[in-house]
Amino acid sequence: MNATLENDVNKRDKAKNVKPLRQLWPFIINYPIIILNFLLFLILAATLNLGITEAFRVIVDCGFNEEKLIPKSCSRYAMGDINNLGSYFKFGMIIGLGLAIFSALRFYFISILGQRVIADIRKSIYAKLTTLSSEYFERVHTGEVLSRLTTDTTLIETVIGSSISFAIRSIAVSIGALIWMFFISWKLTLMVAAIGPIIIIPAIIIGRKIRTLSIESQDNLAQASARAGESISSIQTVQAFTREKKEISDFNNSVESTFNAHKKRIFVRSFMTFIIFGLGIISIIGVMWFGANVAVNSELIDGKPSLSGGQITQFIFLAFMVVSSSGFLTSTWTELLRASGATQRIMELLKEDPVIKSPLNPKAISVLKGNIEFNNVSFSYPSRLNDKALDGINLSIKSGEVVAFVGPSGAGKTTIFKLLLRFYDIQSGSITIDGNPIKLLRTKDLRKQFSIVQQGSPLFSGSAMDNITYGREGASIEEAYKASKMAFADEFIKKLPKGYNTDLGEAAETLSGGQKQRIAIARTILRDAPILLLDEATSSLDSDSEKEIQKAIETMTQSKTTLIIAHRLSTVLKADKIVVLDHGKIIEIGTHKDLLENKRLYSRLSKHQFNDSEIL
Ligand SMILES: Nc1ncnc2c1ncn2[C@@H]1O[C@H](COP(=O)(O)OP(=O)(O)OP(=O)(O)O)[C@@H](O)[C@H]1O
Ligand SMILES: [Mg+2]
Repeated sequence: MNATLENDVNKRDKAKNVKPLRQLWPFIINYPIIILNFLLFLILAATLNLGITEAFRVIVDCGFNEEKLIPKSCSRYAMGDINNLGSYFKFGMIIGLGLAIFSALRFYFISILGQRVIADIRKSIYAKLTTLSSEYFERVHTGEVLSRLTTDTTLIETVIGSSISFAIRSIAVSIGALIWMFFISWKLTLMVAAIGPIIIIPAIIIGRKIRTLSIESQDNLAQASARAGESISSIQTVQAFTREKKEISDFNNSVESTFNAHKKRIFVRSFMTFIIFGLGIISIIGVMWFGANVAVNSELIDGKPSLSGGQITQFIFLAFMVVSSSGFLTSTWTELLRASGATQRIMELLKEDPVIKSPLNPKAISVLKGNIEFNNVSFSYPSRLNDKALDGINLSIKSGEVVAFVGPSGAGKTTIFKLLLRFYDIQSGSITIDGNPIKLLRTKDLRKQFSIVQQGSPLFSGSAMDNITYGREGASIEEAYKASKMAFADEFIKKLPKGYNTDLGEAAETLSGGQKQRIAIARTILRDAPILLLDEATSSLDSDSEKEIQKAIETMTQSKTTLIIAHRLSTVLKADKIVVLDHGKIIEIGTHKDLLENKRLYSRLSKHQFNDSEIL
């Protein structure tokens, strides 16, 4: 776990109780064989764990006693000669070996179960995330979503794989040990029970202190790493401003305060070790001293003490097991609470209902022609319900038309595209394609009607080929080359170090803006859907490349309905119709010539906005 993640783990809210953990059950119960194996080896290991103490008793009582004092029961354990000390050691070793095997198997099965369950939970979270609507990702930040996928699942993983397993084992062993102790001597058992709180209470108090201190140290470290991450990713800015010294001293300070926080924590921890060991061992030995006196002096039966040396040894071991298990349980409790909080958050996410859903009985469609109608459409983004991003839009686009959208920044051009793809639902009015209200179509069928080049041409990490073939499932390499040539991307891709197989880096950051656009266009050409949406598809190209792209788009648009958000005159000149938007409203619709004559927003825009307006 890296520092930030660890810090995240501590900051995440804890639940008030462990009830939410129950919701993990449906994931766990899928693996009954693993669970049964775990339980089997848990019981066997716990039994042998107690059995080890019996082995110690036997070794002491049977192996070291004077012959006449050897209890009859010893013959049971004698593997060979009853008088041979080695026999009893062999008995002990066999139990030890069994304990080792069963403990290993118990660990194996519970860890596999933990990993299996967590793998399933991660898969469900991711599958769920891909179905959620844009509205969700505006409400819940990416960092938060990702930490559910990583930090929260990791918390649960430790809980299933270790905490719960150790807790169950500790409880089983403690109960077994207490019962056994009771049989050996109930009086001594009660005395041990009385000293329990003396050890457990300080352990809880100091444990809390340690937790706050470790959060403090992790906070410091997380800040330092976050800062370092930021300056390294903009190392050119740091170096250009010659601020290396300041960056180094800032980082050093955070590292030093992390160290100081750790020092405090280590001190408290050492103190706790002293208290627990000191109090624990001293008080148990004290009880035994007392017990031994009682046993030896006053309770002689048939001339023998009522407790044998072996029994006293066994009792000490059992008592120690109980005390250390209870100490362990107190520290597990906080972990269980944290995992419970994590489970709560994950289950909330898994129960999240996407706002945009396909209708229950969607209308069956295959390929549409692309007649688009907006009837009195008004829309506000869910995070800004008081602001109308689109207001009373009426628009009719015929199949095969090329329509250009122009308008100032923030006018609502991109929003129109998002509504067509149904990333959001409109508040009033209707949008239809070939007469079908888009709400009545399966969202997948609807989105298959569109090829889009988005603003900023977002690409993925991976090779150039991967990014192009992303356009259509099952597209062949030949088709991809063809699309790439049409988008005039072929030439520059071939010059990359490994051609089409060049890794483009995270979000294709090794490419220039114009190169990214051409790949995005190739991807869109490959998709070959009836309606094309181009959001400023040519904005970062120089005029030569732009002309080439223009040609590519022309061939691409021939048989398709095309909506282009245009920042270039050459684009609007080719359009059948220009739609001018401002503040979410349509101000004007017409051809370039009509609109220039109107002398309204368009004629002003065309003077200032179009990069190539000088040819007007
Ligand atoms: N996800 C969102 N949540 C809330 N408001 C948004 C969201 N996306 C856009 N907006 C707002 O909606 C309005 C229209 O935005 P839109 O992206 O459609 O503008 P645009 O015309 O494409 O502008 P540009 O030319 O700068 O790309 C803007 O005021 C913007 O701030
Ligand atoms: Mg836009």
